[in-house]
Amino acid sequence: MTQSKQYLPSPDWQAQAHVKGMAGYQALVAEAEADHEAFWARLARELISWQTPFTKTLNDSDAPFYKWFEDGRLNVSYNCLDRNVERGLGDKVAIIFEADDGTVTQVSYSELLAKVAQLANALKARGVKKGDRVVIYMPMSVEGVVAMQACARIGATHSVVFGGFSAQSLRDRVQDAGAVMVITADEQQRGGKALPLKAIVDEALADNSCPSCKDVVVYKRTGGAIAWVAGRDLWLHELLAGQSTTCEPEWVEAEHPLFLLYTSGSTGKPKGVQHSTGGYLLHAALTTKWTFDLKPEDVFWCTADIGWVTGHTYIAYGPLALGGTEIVFEGVPTYPDAGRFWQMIEKHKVTIFYTAPTAIRALIKAAESNEAVHPKRYDLSSLRLLGSVGEPINPAAWEWYHANIGGGRCPIVDTFWQTETGGHMITPLPGATPLVPGSCTLPFPGISAAIVDETGNDVPNGQGGILVVKKPWPSMIRTIWGDSERFKKSYYPPELKGYYLAGDGAIRDAETGYFTITGRIDDVLNVSGHRMGTMEIESALVSCTELVAEAAVVGRPDDTTGEAICAFVVLKRPRPSGEEAKAIAKQLRDHVAKEIGPIAKPKDIRFGDNLPKTRSGKIMRRLLRAVAKGEAVTQDTSTLENPAILEQLGQAY
Ligand code: PRX
Repeated sequence: MTQSKQYLPSPDWQAQAHVKGMAGYQALVAEAEADHEAFWARLARELISWQTPFTKTLNDSDAPFYKWFEDGRLNVSYNCLDRNVERGLGDKVAIIFEADDGTVTQVSYSELLAKVAQLANALKARGVKKGDRVVIYMPMSVEGVVAMQACARIGATHSVVFGGFSAQSLRDRVQDAGAVMVITADEQQRGGKALPLKAIVDEALADNSCPSCKDVVVYKRTGGAIAWVAGRDLWLHELLAGQSTTCEPEWVEAEHPLFLLYTSGSTGKPKGVQHSTGGYLLHAALTTKWTFDLKPEDVFWCTADIGWVTGHTYIAYGPLALGGTEIVFEGVPTYPDAGRFWQMIEKHKVTIFYTAPTAIRALIKAAESNEAVHPKRYDLSSLRLLGSVGEPINPAAWEWYHANIGGGRCPIVDTFWQTETGGHMITPLPGATPLVPGSCTLPFPGISAAIVDETGNDVPNGQGGILVVKKPWPSMIRTIWGDSERFKKSYYPPELKGYYLAGDGAIRDAETGYFTITGRIDDVLNVSGHRMGTMEIESALVSCTELVAEAAVVGRPDDTTGEAICAFVVLKRPRPSGEEAKAIAKQLRDHVAKEIGPIAKPKDIRFGDNLPKTRSGKIMRRLLRAVAKGEAVTQDTSTLENPAILEQLGQAY
């Protein structure tokens, strides 16, 4: 691996940045190394307003159940809203909302505070208390952010479920969280189409399947027809009518769970990643400040959905904690055409733009095939910084992003992190770090990322291994909701010396020590930046009991989506071919969409009389991966019961 091509921060950039030059970065790293706890304590005091200051920084007596700032009390919504109003930012625009159809609404900090207080009062009036779980199944909207902040204000723990998940996935999450309420909308408006949300909630809660959930609060977005369950369903606007626009925040302990966010792991069941209040807020604010170099005059745009962790940390919390101005966008990058992002950057004079490699790759293709949506047609001169998140960005896409969107002048921060980490872990700091396309460069100050072998010993630079974090950090996952054993097993396996196991492989450059993420080392796929467990998709396929006898799912590289889902299926009936196979493949895709959501639909489906297995009955996944990629099979196949199946599996539908 050569990392000879480096992009240095310009002297101007460096001079104005929060973290100035490599000397600035190294000083912070040294401070953290000298006294890890004192480093985090200093920043927690500087960035957060505490109602009761903490006296104890880290409690590691029950590792890996670490506690940060344990005896401090605070409120996240106070820190994001009231505090900014008190500092004189009441009239400053907090959110610029652009709807699917282009309509723009601006919300100031004092307006946002009033909205949050009203909803917080309404939630309390419905009996929602500190510690109750509230599921939010909302479109990208001001109301979605308000719902999250309102939960934070009263100490309720929210669990946002991405609007693309199916009724079954939503039901699983409501049940697992034991949610008392679901906040949703009648429909969501995306790409010129109205898509149901409330109808999916109705299906998820049908047959009294979620007895904990007493209320469904409905934000009227489109006014489309919906069914109504009397005694359970409440219109948001009716609930808010007459509620006071002030609400005393609930001061919670720093360790109080701010939210649960379900994500995929190595088993069929998604896990509810539990985050804290104090430690999480600290890292959300700090990374927004240092990685995005957020300044009062910036217009920040993170294109993620609030249903993912990126939308939590870099829409709902981080930028607001710093009193920033941010864009919330309802629509999709390709509507009304693939110039939408560029047009919005021009219109709102966006200065910091944060998106996923999948979107960049799709927009490169679009620009190459249609001059009219090429970014050169737009004035993108307001931009000063670009970011990438969710999956590795290939150097070619990085270069295009740098040249065509950043005009060659904007640094790109390739931010490596996870739902579990709460915020950035390995990332360039834009006024400091020389950039190398394809590398997320160096650990954020205070994050002790390292690469080790299976026994937890460091591997030398230039040699790949397992990515770990050696010391606890404030915004780390606290546990898996309701399953602390799974938390320990998944993230702190005993052989790794008490290090946090990220689940990714990585390698450090022999000369620079820069990190490059080489991909997951578990059964987790990354499709368009969406994280999905192969076992989950397998479970969804075999739940189609009338058709499927057995299924195995693997990933293969894909030019646009990063990875694509490939399913190998054995049917309970003779192996189909031709048109019949196509029809069954469609039926199976629809079934997976119904079980999990459209994002989990396999791209390729291959049918066999059986699956290739070892003598001990284990599915030969490496072999399946080779087949999925269309590679020649070099593995020893002598143990295969029926070598002919390799030929059968060669055909994808
Ligand atoms: O495999 C890594 C990949 O995304 C995983 C985390 O997914 P999720 O929890 O959904 O969070 C996504 C948003 C933070 C990681 O384990 N990943 C994330 N960022 C990068 C990345 N891989 C390479 N480079 C990145 N910058």
